[in-house]
Parts: sequence; structure tokens; C-alpha cells
Amino acid sequence: METTTQTAKCPFAGKGIPDIDFSDSAFIKNPFATYAAMRDEAPVHRVAFSSGQPFWLITRYEDAMLVFKDPRFTKDIKKTLPPDHKAPASPLAMSQLFSHHVLYMDPPDHTRMKQLVQKAFTPKLVDGMRSHIQDITNKLLDKHIPTGRIDIINDYALPLPISIISGLLGIPEKDQQLFRRWSNIILNIDINVTREERMQLMPEAIGGFTNYLREIFASKQANPADDLITHLVQAKEGSDKLNETELMSTVFLLFAAGYETSVNLIGNGVLALLQYPEQQQALRNDPGLINTTVDEVLRLDPPVSLASERYALEDVEMNGVTIPKGELVHICITAANRDPRRFDSPDTFDITRKDNKHFSFGQGTHYCVGSALGKLEGEIAINTLLRRIPAFSVEGGDIDALKYKNNSVMRGLEALPIVF
Ligand code: HEM
Repeated sequence: METTTQTAKCPFAGKGIPDIDFSDSAFIKNPFATYAAMRDEAPVHRVAFSSGQPFWLITRYEDAMLVFKDPRFTKDIKKTLPPDHKAPASPLAMSQLFSHHVLYMDPPDHTRMKQLVQKAFTPKLVDGMRSHIQDITNKLLDKHIPTGRIDIINDYALPLPISIISGLLGIPEKDQQLFRRWSNIILNIDINVTREERMQLMPEAIGGFTNYLREIFASKQANPADDLITHLVQAKEGSDKLNETELMSTVFLLFAAGYETSVNLIGNGVLALLQYPEQQQALRNDPGLINTTVDEVLRLDPPVSLASERYALEDVEMNGVTIPKGELVHICITAANRDPRRFDSPDTFDITRKDNKHFSFGQGTHYCVGSALGKLEGEIAINTLLRRIPAFSVEGGDIDALKYKNNSVMRGLEALPIVF
């Protein structure tokens, strides 16, 4: 999306505020001091991704709240483009096929689509999934406990949400890995693939995904089941309010948003409990604290570090800085969640914290559809792990040696092997 102008200057540029290199592994591992400096000195700061794409980074809680809720910021990039703008015919632009979903819409289109999706995620329906989530969690542990080792990310945190979201959507188990591979390429999640390789893989991923979805839509139409894809296909057929691109984009979004986030919640949670053994012990003593524990993990180490794209529809002034019309803005959830103007002792991990209105599921119109599901997965995964393994430690003993995924938007470990 190289569409924003390159002309705006950040008033803080060159004034001792560090430029961020979002691909630097040291920054990815520990961005907190840099974000603290930005919150204090340059809370609305112009930075750039390693692709060169510039954007405004919002680091204070109060400013983040404003951007989440202010209609002067749009989620729909088309509103910032000239009417005759044509998307370039690159493989990346083809992925626009999968971007006609709620996350990139403003009301009223957003309202119509979100109502459809939200029906599947009511608190009652989500709570009804408790025993299913518990079953999968137990099976994963049954397999690994006898070996005395488990990689929390790849053997535990990853298969759980993939299985849950695929089941909800109605994707057969045999196709789940394929689905994940395509969505990783399209979303640029796979750390082992270079940009060039990704460009080569894109047409295959997009073609494969599109054909697969068309087939599954036809099959659900012929043989309706009690799953989300069937409900969405029926919504399309019933009132003609959902076109095929929106249908494809929505299934893609639900799958993509529904697993990597939960993986990072579980991974970041287990990591925090290893880093703060007294908090782990407190949770072991009182598993009823799991609810506030998960919220505290979400606040301290959010799975989604940067909220998704927003664009200024007009010049917007914040903290004495003008964000020019058309420019890209990202709220830094990681920074806002540790703003001392909002939270007491923000860098402390306190699993009993009461006042904890963090931004880890967003805020306002685009508040996360799957928040209850994500939290439930995190609660069950973490408490079951503690219940079934009385003591564990990081393999090799060096927590500092753990590596983060090279991703500027999501925050999570590549692997977290523990032994017991
Ligand atoms: C711990 C787990 C999760 C976290 C931390 C998380 C985080 C977020 C955040 C920060 C947003 C708002 C983005 C923005 O405003 O820019 C969001 C939106 C969304 N999330 Fe989640 N999410 C999680 C789990 C899930 C799950 C399990 C699903 C569905 C299966 C899901 C589906 C969505 C959807 C559809 C949106 C877009 C809502 C809209 O645009 O109105 N999320 N999520």
C-alpha cells in the first residue's frame, strides 16, 4: 500500500528520538524503553516500516483512544485515493481480493458485515465451546507430557486455536495445514520466506485459496452444516447482502485473525509466568485468578502490537503535531498499554490487577469479534498447563536466548521449549 505522500515531516525528527528499525531483532525483543521515550517526547511520531512505508505511530493511551474512535480516521484506504486510482497489477495487489472485510470498512458497510459475523461469537456460544477447547488441550498435553518436553508455541499454542477456528468455520481437518500455508503467505507471516520468494509464492497461494474457497462454498450450499461458512453462504444467498469477494475476505479474516493472535497470547502468557515465578506460584495457588492473569498478559505483552491501518481523512492535529490528510496511522497497543498516565506501575506484571482496560482487543467500532474466544483459549491453555505440569523451566535454562518472530505487527516467540 505505497499510497501515502512522502512529504510530511515529523517535528520530532532528529531531536534525539530514536528512529525505529522495525526489523531489528533487538528492538523486536525489547521495544519498551524506545516506546517509553516516544510516549514522553514524541507521542505522535512519523516512522517507517522496513519496506519504506512511512506512518504515524501513536504511543499514548489517551491519543490511542481518540484514534480508535475518531471518524476523521478511516479504515477504508479507497477513501484516501483519487477516484481514477487503479491498483497496480502486482501479486501483492491480488491479495486485495481478501481485503473486503470488516477490518477495512467504515460504517454503514462495516455494521452490516459485523452483525453477520458477530452472531457466531456471542458469549453464550463461546462459553459452549469450553469443553471442546479443554478436550483439545488435554489431548495435546497427553501426547507430550510423557516425553518430558513440549514446545509451547508449536506443539501447544498453535494447534489449539487452528483446530478451534477451523472447526468453527467448517474447514475439514485434512485441509487445515494447507489453509494455514496460504494465509501465511498472503499475510506475510512466514518468517522463513524472503520477500522475493513470497512474491513467487503469492499467485499460487491466492489461486489455491480462491479455488478452495469456491469449492467449499459450493459444497456447503449443497450440504449445509452447522458451521460459520454455511451461515455466511446462506446469508449471501438469502438477502444478497454479501457478495462473493466479501464472503471470501471474511472467511480469510476470521481464519487469519483467529489463530496467530491466540498463539501469541498463550506463548506470551507462559513466558511471563516463567519470568515472574512468584506470579506463577500465586496462580497455581489460586487458579481462579486466571481471568485477571490473562488480561494482565494481554496488557503487558499484547499479541497484536500495532493496531491495523487507519488513514487521516483530513489534517488532524494531536499533541501539537499535524497528521496530514491521507497519511497512514498505526496505534501502538504495546506502548499505550504501558502508559503511566493511565496505569499504575505499568511495567509490573500483576495478575491481580483490577483496573485493566487495555487496548489489546482494540476499542470502539472495530473491537475484536473473537475477544471472548481468544481469552477462553488462553485461560484454558494456561491453567491446564499449570495443573498438569507441577514445575517446568525453559529448555537450556536461558530465557534471554528465546527468539521473537520477525514481525512488526504481531508480537510472539518463534518457539518456547520447556522441560519438566
Ligand atoms: C488473543 C486473541 C486476540 C487478540 C489479541 C485480538 C486482537 C484484535 C485487535 C487488536 C483487533 C482490532 C484491530 C484494530 O482496530 O485495528 C481485532 C479485531 C478483530 N478480531 Fe481479534 N484478536 C484475537 C482473537 C480473535 C479471534 C479468535 C477472532 C475470530 C475468530 C478474531 C477476529 C477479529 C475480527 C473479525 C476483527 C475485526 C473487527 C472489526 O473490524 O470490526 N480475533 N482483534
